[in-house]
Amino acid sequence: MKRVIVAVLAASAHAAASCAAASAPAGRDDLSAADLERVRAITAPTRDFSKAEAFETMQAGAATTNKLINADIFSQPSANMSFERRQEFQVGNGLFRKDWVSAPASTQASDGLGPLFNARSCQACHTKDGRGSVPGFDPLERPDAVALLLRLAVPEGPDRGHPRLAPGEIALLPEPVYGVQLQNFAVAGLPAEGRMEIDYTPVTVRLNGGESATLMKPAYRIDNLGYGPMRKDTQISPRLAPPMIGLGLLESIHEADILANIGADKRDGIVGKANWVTDARTGQRVLGRFNLKAGQPTVAQQSAAAFSNDMGLSTPLFPKHYGDCTAAQPQCLQMPHGAQPRFGAEEVPAKLMDFVTTYSTNLAVPQRRDTDDARVLAGKKLFYEANCVACHVPKYVTSRNARQAEHRFQLIWPYTDMLVHDMGEDLADGVSDGSANGREWRTPPLWGIGLTRTVNPNATWLHDGRARTLLEAVLWHGGAGQPARDRVVAMTPEERADLIRFLESL
Ligand code: HEC
Ligand code: HEC
Repeated sequence: MKRVIVAVLAASAHAAASCAAASAPAGRDDLSAADLERVRAITAPTRDFSKAEAFETMQAGAATTNKLINADIFSQPSANMSFERRQEFQVGNGLFRKDWVSAPASTQASDGLGPLFNARSCQACHTKDGRGSVPGFDPLERPDAVALLLRLAVPEGPDRGHPRLAPGEIALLPEPVYGVQLQNFAVAGLPAEGRMEIDYTPVTVRLNGGESATLMKPAYRIDNLGYGPMRKDTQISPRLAPPMIGLGLLESIHEADILANIGADKRDGIVGKANWVTDARTGQRVLGRFNLKAGQPTVAQQSAAAFSNDMGLSTPLFPKHYGDCTAAQPQCLQMPHGAQPRFGAEEVPAKLMDFVTTYSTNLAVPQRRDTDDARVLAGKKLFYEANCVACHVPKYVTSRNARQAEHRFQLIWPYTDMLVHDMGEDLADGVSDGSANGREWRTPPLWGIGLTRTVNPNATWLHDGRARTLLEAVLWHGGAGQPARDRVVAMTPEERADLIRFLESL
């Protein structure tokens, strides 16, 4: 059965690829012919690694922040925001940090949390607007990970018509009792759904030049189930909260540029795949860009989904007050909610939701460091030569028609194609999400990656935080990423160090 689904998805990827090829000349509808020529010239891959490229340091264009590098470096507003817009950003910041409480509470504008939830605030997972962490890599320490959540799905079946699938509120088929996500917390009087347990097995990888690396292979299970047995065929998709920087710019990359990345003649036979998902507001099929499998089309929709699934709060887009409670959890559906008629019909009314979206789309990407350093430039050359750029596509000029002024017509360097790729069996979760299958993940943007630990000293990499170093992250690449990974294994120790220096300069 699984094989059939994969074949169908592969066929649709193919269709999407040929469709993109056919529409490529139409391409950017926001540019004049002269502009288009300039854009093509400036975004063409460089061949000169003797010095930094023009504007390379400003990796998010005019939105790049040049603030002093410290633990707050991911929390700055787009540098080109007006004073008025900065004030909206600040209100959004307050909402992103705010701890929600269960209803009814004396602080009526902050209640409605749950009944089931994973965390009380956005910030609890997106640590200082950076990525979350997975405590407890030491097998003796119990992993008490808030920022690492477990998506739940069952294989495709007659349930394909699930009411939450059609409006795009969810992109996978939920477990009938536990829903789309394991909530490891609940309000007083209600059992939590369960507790995630992770067992790590060390795997040693030998590298050229006498070096080696130890990868920690995770296995997930769920203990203390609060609502009876889970379906036997439930698949678990572990997902660690990614960093929040540059998201509005990623939303402003022209769709034609992303579809052009699908490619058919790339080295190593790499073909990307677009994840077509539902826009919850319009009901239309649109390009997915956000989340670890590109299962959400916009930052606003993902932020509303986070309120719903991660914190159990209703928004105009997803108006149920009970988040991920299912019909099989009747006690959950009977708990009080926090909607206040005088504020609106939802726990998080439209106005507040807009502030959160302004915030989430305007966290600035920091300036690059050491772009002219000889070792960094050597590492950059290796990044191109190893064909990392087939997926981690360096640069774009964003659309002139972007929704927010800050994001229009900027030269940006996110190092992603915004597409999903088969990354091999070791990274596979077996869970499909929109049109991405159980082996596919979205190429994550690499901008800011060198400051990950400046912001959160405990942060780790990849979709479930299994990689404790950038080198480990590269060594986990399998599937379409295997040839590039093998080139890194074959590098001399000095070359590998240069490649990492380049990543650290991003
Ligand atoms: C329980 C932890 C948790 C909480 C709380 C949380 N998030 Fe997230 N967030 C995640 C995870 C995990 C992902 C990736 C999800 C996926 O791939 O499906 C994510 C993804 C995102 C993304 C997409 C980022 C990208 O690079 O594609 C946005 C935007 C986002 N969250 C916003 C928010 C907002 C706004 C809130 C508060 C309303 C919030 N999140 C609360 C864990 C959390
Ligand atoms: C086939 C496409 C592809 C190629 C080629 C590729 N990557 Fe990746 N890369 C990905 C995807 C997809 C992920 C996310 C995988 C996951 O989270 O499980 C990723 C993750 C990463 C990460 C971790 C990012 C994070 O935020 O956790 C780093 C670092 C990275 N790649 C560097 C490289 C380098 C260096 C090369 C070249 C040696 C390379 N990649 C080649 C697709 C690719």
